[in-house]
Amino acid sequence: MVPLAVISLKNVRFEYPGRHLALEDVSLEVAEGERVALIGPNGAGKSTLLHLMAALDFPRTGEVIVAGRKVERKGAAEARKQVGFLFQDPDDQVFMPSVWEDVAFGPLNMGLPEEEVRCRVEKALEDSGASHLSKRVPQNLSLGEKKRVAVAGLLSMSPPVLLLDEPTANLDPQGRRDLLNILAGLKQSMVIATHDLALAFELADRAVVLNKKVLFDGSFHELVKMPEVLKEANLELPSFSRLMMMYRQHVGADFEPPLTVEEAFELLKDHRS
Ligand SMILES: Nc1ncnc2c1ncn2[C@@H]1O[C@H](COP(=O)(O)OP(=O)(O)OP(=O)(O)O)[C@@H](O)[C@H]1O
Ligand SMILES: [Mg+2]
Repeated sequence: MVPLAVISLKNVRFEYPGRHLALEDVSLEVAEGERVALIGPNGAGKSTLLHLMAALDFPRTGEVIVAGRKVERKGAAEARKQVGFLFQDPDDQVFMPSVWEDVAFGPLNMGLPEEEVRCRVEKALEDSGASHLSKRVPQNLSLGEKKRVAVAGLLSMSPPVLLLDEPTANLDPQGRRDLLNILAGLKQSMVIATHDLALAFELADRAVVLNKKVLFDGSFHELVKMPEVLKEANLELPSFSRLMMMYRQHVGADFEPPLTVEEAFELLKDHRS
């Protein structure tokens, strides 16, 4: 059975005021439970595309369908309930007087009972490594701390679709790893805009490379064999992949660029002799 498309974009074109063209004829489907990495250079339109999926902006041409309903200005509030949006800039996201209230805002708005809200907030803060920040004023936090709080806000609502704009930017390495593990354990459909290819390899099922238009839509194993697409998207393979490609040339072996450190290790073991 073909999995249901949770997000579907058909021939979407988007211009900002001043006729600045950000997206040109983008068509894309995301299946239920699928994790798609949206990659591309600065200014490629990644955030713009996520904004359209989150009913924060609306295309004049083409259509965006999320969870079975067409995203339009009218009814946008309903459409927004289907998606959890992690803004690229956490300052756009955290706004309540305390971290606790900020994370509780979504579940309270969903009309959940107080006890359920408390449980959700505690769990979300713990999962995002932000429990120690619960009494702080969000505006005074460091960038990485704000990001953790914003992530906790999403986790506490657990919406069916997650749209994550640079989720690991500004996180310290342990914070990045923890977030990766949390996201990997979630069942929701996700679109993750990122420049972090190592994260995309680990977390996502599929790559969509964007530069106003969709340049590539497919598996990472296919993508890493297309240097011209990587170049056009200003991408660089993670160091372990590049190291393995140098090693491949050195020993005259024939394998594909590994996508994870574990894959690289397996290749090394196989080629030891
Ligand atoms: N509010 C706006 N008004 C006018 N132009 C905008 C606006 N927001 C974004 N743009 C332009 O639209 C294009 C796409 O921007 P967008 O933020 O979607 O890119 P991005 O792929 O998310 O980039 P980055 O990797 O830097 O986050 C850019 O050329 C940007 O300058
Ligand atoms: Mg962006």
